[in-house]
Amino acid sequence: SEGLFTYDPGFVATASCESGITYIDGAAGVLLHRGYPIGQLAENSNYVELCYLLLFGELPSKAQYDDFAATVRNHTMVHEQLVNFFKGFRRDAHPMAILCGVVGGLAAFYHDNLDITKEEERRVSAVRLIAKMPTLAAMCHKYNIGQPFNYPRNDLDYAENFLYMMFGNPCESYEVNPVFAKAMDRIFMLHADHEQNASTSTVRLAGSTGANPFACISAGIAALWGPAHGGANEAVLNMLDEIGDESEENIQRFIDRAKDKDDPFKLMGFGHRVYRNFDPRAKVMKETCDEVLGELGLADDPQLKIAKRLEQIALEDDYFIERKLYPNVDFYSGIILKAIGIPTNMFTVIFATARTIGWISHWNEMISSSYRISRPRQLYTGHSKRDYPTK
Ligand code: SDX
Repeated sequence: SEGLFTYDPGFVATASCESGITYIDGAAGVLLHRGYPIGQLAENSNYVELCYLLLFGELPSKAQYDDFAATVRNHTMVHEQLVNFFKGFRRDAHPMAILCGVVGGLAAFYHDNLDITKEEERRVSAVRLIAKMPTLAAMCHKYNIGQPFNYPRNDLDYAENFLYMMFGNPCESYEVNPVFAKAMDRIFMLHADHEQNASTSTVRLAGSTGANPFACISAGIAALWGPAHGGANEAVLNMLDEIGDESEENIQRFIDRAKDKDDPFKLMGFGHRVYRNFDPRAKVMKETCDEVLGELGLADDPQLKIAKRLEQIALEDDYFIERKLYPNVDFYSGIILKAIGIPTNMFTVIFATARTIGWISHWNEMISSSYRISRPRQLYTGHSKRDYPTK
């Protein structure tokens, strides 16, 4: 009856939907996309193929892959009028603020003729988003630093093209470093989907009203921005900067702060709602980090040293052991991104770019099944009925 609801703040024990996209066993540290383990995908697949898998449910044949990759390439450009959206922002605006705005703005370009009940139209919307996100992400960076935007180069693959748009400029030729491109593709893959996390749930909730998919993705970007979620990768690097060096006292000081209930500080890149074991993505990320920094001759990178020592000390500390707090996907990603030359304020934008396929796959799954508008209830804690005072 009215008022008798299950009270589950933070949705710790509530399944909000059925989904066949991603499976997580948090106790065992397992992550499967459409049944395939993330470690195997990271080793053998690539981001565009993973997009196909998440969206359509099966790995593509060679012909299906080529066709899908070509379709994604066809959609990499954004409407020239979007440039005007960028110009409305201050140069120093956070790129996540710009991204929320311009992705929401895409709804204005693809709204009136969009019929989301048609599978083909949902597919084209998904492809448009996957294709345009790197373009928009790179435009955020170029706008920040005052350089001209680069048009996408469709002779390059997904990650290469993103790096070209980020770092190329009209004054000099730009050769994409293959080590950077491989690492970038790996980072995109490791962030592609993670079932009903806060931003994906936001996209589903917004989508359950029948809203335009580009606007729904913009809602997801907003939810991702917080430091407890996607903003953690930026926060990790800021934290490592603040720690300063790998001396025992310095690191211990930050560990002690994280344990102190009177201090709001948390160890960034540590802990997870679902994983009570190693985040399997963090394992791959750490290996990738060692690989990339090794190949670049940066194995002695001071921040990598601090991160490793911090991880070691935390994993031996009773506080972290009792609460089963382990490094998550964001702990090592920032060090790789920094080595590639990506500025810290772009880290969460890169997460958003990669997660777009997860968001739109969940949106598509929901719209193509029978669904109802999401409408949680509440436990009312306000006044009981009272009369408005009259004179
Ligand atoms: C992502 O959900 C997803 O799938 C997200 C994600 C994805 O791919 O979409 O995996 C991406 O968001 C990764 C998480 C990035 N965030 C951070 O790294 C920020 C630091 N971590 C946290 O603030 C925290 O661990 C969360 C937000 C990730 C999880 O929060 P929960 O599930 O609400 O856990 P909790 O706050 O209830 O923690 C349980 C206990 C608490 O202590 P007690 O009150 O029981 O004594 O563990 C403590 C917490 O205070 N704790 C930490 C901690 N994380 C949890 N203490 C110190 N440092 C931490 N990082």
